[in-house]
Amino acid sequence: MQIDVITLFPSFFQTPLECGLMGKALNKGVATVNLINPRDFTTDKHHHVDDIPYGGGVGMVLKPEPIFAAVESLPILPPREVILLSPQGQTLNQNLLRELATNYQQLVLICGHYEGVDERVQHIVTREVSIGDFVLTCGEIPALTLINGVIRLLPGTVGKVESIYADSFEDGLLDYPHYTRPPVFRGLEVPPVLRSGNHKEIAKWRYQKQLEATEKKRPDLMAIYKQNKETK
Ligand SMILES: C[S@@+](CC[C@H](N)C(=O)[O-])C[C@H]1O[C@@H](n2cnc3c(N)ncnc32)[C@H](O)[C@@H]1O
Repeated sequence: MQIDVITLFPSFFQTPLECGLMGKALNKGVATVNLINPRDFTTDKHHHVDDIPYGGGVGMVLKPEPIFAAVESLPILPPREVILLSPQGQTLNQNLLRELATNYQQLVLICGHYEGVDERVQHIVTREVSIGDFVLTCGEIPALTLINGVIRLLPGTVGKVESIYADSFEDGLLDYPHYTRPPVFRGLEVPPVLRSGNHKEIAKWRYQKQLEATEKKRPDLMAIYKQNKETK
C-alpha cells in the first residue's frame, strides 16, 4: 500500500514513522508513506498556503491551489481513496480501518489547519474521516492515527495475525485481560486458570471476561453484540 500525506509539517511524522512496529513494517516495505508539503506547490513569492476567509470571520483558510497541485502531482494507484481529515467526517473505527486496509492500494491523506481547507478541495476528496467528536488544531494527529491503524492491519506488520483477531472490536467485544510474569505481584495473583495449561478452560475464561468487560465499559457495544447474536 502507498500512503501519501499532504501536510504542511512533514517533520511531524518522522519519529512516529520510525518507531516500534510501524517503523519495522515500513522498513520491511509493508507500506510506503510519502510526505508531500503543499507549500512546495505554491507559485507566489512568499509561498502562501492560507488566506483570509471570504465573508469575513476569524481564522485563516488553507488555499485550494497548493492542495490540488500536491494531490495532482501524485501517481494514481487504483483503487485509491483521497481522504480529508476533518471533524465533520465519518468517525474512524476498526471497521473503517479494515475497509481502508483491505480495499485500497493508495490512500492520500489531506491534513487541514486553522479553520480548515477551502471547500473546493471537496472536489478531489472521496471521503472525509474524523477521529471523534472534538476539534484538534491540525489534521496530522488524525492522519497518524489512521496510518497506524491501517498499517497494523496490513500483512507483515504484526507477527502473529491471530493476536489482531483477539484484540478489542474485532468480534464486537472488548479484549480479555492480559497477565505476564510474575505469578504474584504485591499480593495480586494471576488467575490460576491461566496457569492451568487447560486451553479449553482458558478460552472459556477469556470469553467470559470479554463479555464482562464489554458489558461494564461499553454497554453500547454489548447491546449491538447481543442483537447480532440473536439475528444469527
Ligand atoms: C481547527 S480544525 C478546523 C475545524 C473546522 N473549522 C470545523 O469546525 O469543522 C483544523 C484541522 O484539524 C483537523 N482536525 C481537527 N479535529 C479533527 C478531528 N476530530 N478529526 C479529524 N481531523 C480533525 C482537520 O484537518 C481540520 O481541517
